[in-house]
Amino acid sequence: HPLILFASGRGSNVQAVIDYFSKEQKAFVALIVCNNPEAGVLEIASRHQIPVQLIDRKSFKEEAFVEVLKQYKPSLLVLAGFLWKVPESVVASFSGKIINIHPALLPKYGGKGMYGMHVHNAVVAANEKESGITIHFVNEHYDEGATIVQAQCKLLPEDSPEHLAEKIHKLEHYFFPRTIEFLLKEINIDID
Ligand code: GRF
Repeated sequence: HPLILFASGRGSNVQAVIDYFSKEQKAFVALIVCNNPEAGVLEIASRHQIPVQLIDRKSFKEEAFVEVLKQYKPSLLVLAGFLWKVPESVVASFSGKIINIHPALLPKYGGKGMYGMHVHNAVVAANEKESGITIHFVNEHYDEGATIVQAQCKLLPEDSPEHLAEKIHKLEHYFFPRTIEFLLKEINIDID
């Protein structure tokens, strides 16, 4: 099962997926799409000799990009901290096969601009008693695709946004690879 991962940042979720499937062999990261030449995820890609498609707004050609993705015959497109809104033609070409992870319990704390520390700052500022992650299908609207998995963590009054971010990353690194594995089994069931 070839996976195409999309990331714009550190890539700790990409690393978690690479690590999980290096033992499982069911799936592998065939390509990493990135829109940020400074992203830490590019280090991970070169360390694991994973091809990278570095895209930028100026030279981005949607149709050509979709053709590149199709060549990999991906089982899933996995957004892991990808800060672009996925172009409609990509959503249309791979509908039902694009998933995203959001570091909050959607529909709360979702939508444009709600990513990374912005989310954790807002959750702590609102004195929430819990937060968590949402893994969902991607459609043409930000963070509105059908939810696949949600996992929660307790929030203590003294927890800082940074401490919350640590708790959230632990949930992500545990649930994201296992959710991908579950979906691949599901997809298998469809095809067989
Ligand atoms: C994660 O918190 C994820 O929920 C959000 O972006 C962040 C990516 O972190 N979509 P990393 O680059 O995987 O460390």
